[in-house]
Amino acid sequence: MKNKILVVSSANMDMVLDIDRVPNAGQTVIDMGSYTYVPGGKGANSALAFARLGGNCTFLTRVGSDANGEALVSLYEREGINTSYIKKDESAPTGLATIFVEKSGQNRIIVFAGANQKIDTGSIDCAMDSDIDALYMQFEINYDAILYSAKKASEKGVPIFIDAGAIKRDFPFEALPELEIFSPNESEAYEITGIMPDSDKRCLDVALALSKLVCAKYIVIKLGGRGAYVFDGANGKFMPTYDIEVVDTTAAGDAFTAGLTLEYLRCGDIYRACEFANATGTLTVSRKGASSSIPSETEVEAFLKSVK
Ligand code: RIB
Repeated sequence: MKNKILVVSSANMDMVLDIDRVPNAGQTVIDMGSYTYVPGGKGANSALAFARLGGNCTFLTRVGSDANGEALVSLYEREGINTSYIKKDESAPTGLATIFVEKSGQNRIIVFAGANQKIDTGSIDCAMDSDIDALYMQFEINYDAILYSAKKASEKGVPIFIDAGAIKRDFPFEALPELEIFSPNESEAYEITGIMPDSDKRCLDVALALSKLVCAKYIVIKLGGRGAYVFDGANGKFMPTYDIEVVDTTAAGDAFTAGLTLEYLRCGDIYRACEFANATGTLTVSRKGASSSIPSETEVEAFLKSVK
């Protein structure tokens, strides 16, 4: 079975602030909500999702030589993730994300990248020499690491899956080799193309604009509560998601794309993979936090049975 995934991406400690509303510029707001520290980072959330959903995951990231770095790596080990290629950086702290969660479950995130920006090509060379079925990445790490990993995977004939989390318009898309799946959410799609995928027609416009920049077999646009739009290079199809009470949307996209990638590797069917991913994302938004909200394979399969 194909399920050995190398994740080259970010690890953060998340400071999650439950707030009534975000302050305006120059305003001080006293909030009676609560705050917690939860392991997060787009890459780590996806790596944990791979491990919990039945994948065999190797996670390459970089943390600082600090307490947060220690706590994160020991969590990955407890979850059965291979951490052999994670280095502790002496010059930069572990990544930190400040996440404001409003009553609606909607979030706003500021990431202090820290050691995530220091992933080196030496670590990538070592990880790429291992036995892997897929490479998976997002954009919270240094561009050099993304481009180098993609080049090595392509030379090795390993399929590449990219979630557009934290993408910025200045990314040199033309330097990427062919991808298997490229998956942005609505705001990432807008950041890259300048078009918001808020109607059938605009989803197709976004997919066509993206396919001029990124060579991918499938473009999968995450549409939050509306589900996802799958574009195969010629045609697009909406894949509706499931109704659930939204508690916190943090990590839903990371879990969705991990579920999509893993199930696609296992069955080769993008639409079945998208159903599995929608269920994974749905369960994630029904719970609080990043790593704490990601479901197991058993939970996803039980949920899919319950909605059939
Ligand atoms: O996608 C959610 C993640 O984005 C959070 O866990 C935070 O660390 C940021 O990377």
